[in-house]
Amino acid sequence: MKRRTILKGLASLAPISVGGNLLAEEANYARGTGVCRLISQDILGPFAIEQPPLRSELALDQAGVPLELRFQVLNAFNCQPLPGARVSIWHSNADGMYSAVENVILDGSGQPTGEKVDYRNRDWLRGAQVSDEAGRVVFKTIVPGWYFPRPTHLHLQVFPPDFGEVATTQLYFPDTDCDQVYRTEPYAKRGPNTVRTDPTADSPVDGTDEGDLWLSLKPNGSGLAAEHTIGVTFYGKEFGELPDIYKQS
Ligand SMILES: [Fe+2]
Repeated sequence: MKRRTILKGLASLAPISVGGNLLAEEANYARGTGVCRLISQDILGPFAIEQPPLRSELALDQAGVPLELRFQVLNAFNCQPLPGARVSIWHSNADGMYSAVENVILDGSGQPTGEKVDYRNRDWLRGAQVSDEAGRVVFKTIVPGWYFPRPTHLHLQVFPPDFGEVATTQLYFPDTDCDQVYRTEPYAKRGPNTVRTDPTADSPVDGTDEGDLWLSLKPNGSGLAAEHTIGVTFYGKEFGELPDIYKQS
């Protein structure tokens, strides 16, 4: 059973107090009105890999504006920090290309040129971390470049410990910040991202509010930093065993 099916079941419950207000919290969660909610979902995309390296420093030999990402994983059911969640991110380099794949080069109108750049034996700008007792992970990377026809973004998956559901999404970089970054080397040769997309129109998986997928970038030394909270569904420990009616058959 997928999350939305579960939510449909939860939404039909009256917000009554049972076992420490869990049902009330569930109802808030289902409506998306609480401060704790599942992060909006987005597509996985074609460039995910099975076993990303466990590390915090992702740039390796890739040049770019330094970016420190500080994430906190929360249990969306009870708002508590969630330790032990594996957070994986991956994004393109300053040229808009991914490691671990063969990149197809497009022309200015988005058509394949026939040229390819093979980075299948590289793994830069990918990595995973396990959240600490405060639910926190930190990644040190660079601001992604852009590739047609996408707004500037990074990919993210969170694997809760034990009995939770994997959250798959993308986080977006505001155009104004990207325009500044893309005036600097090594981004400048490609200029600004030609796609000026409203990210809320870019999440076909889930029709709920995608405002939570914007990163808020702040100066950080010679680069930028962003903090972001990631709510995930996690049924173990605090929440207890999921009722049978919600389990996947
Ligand atoms: Fe992507």
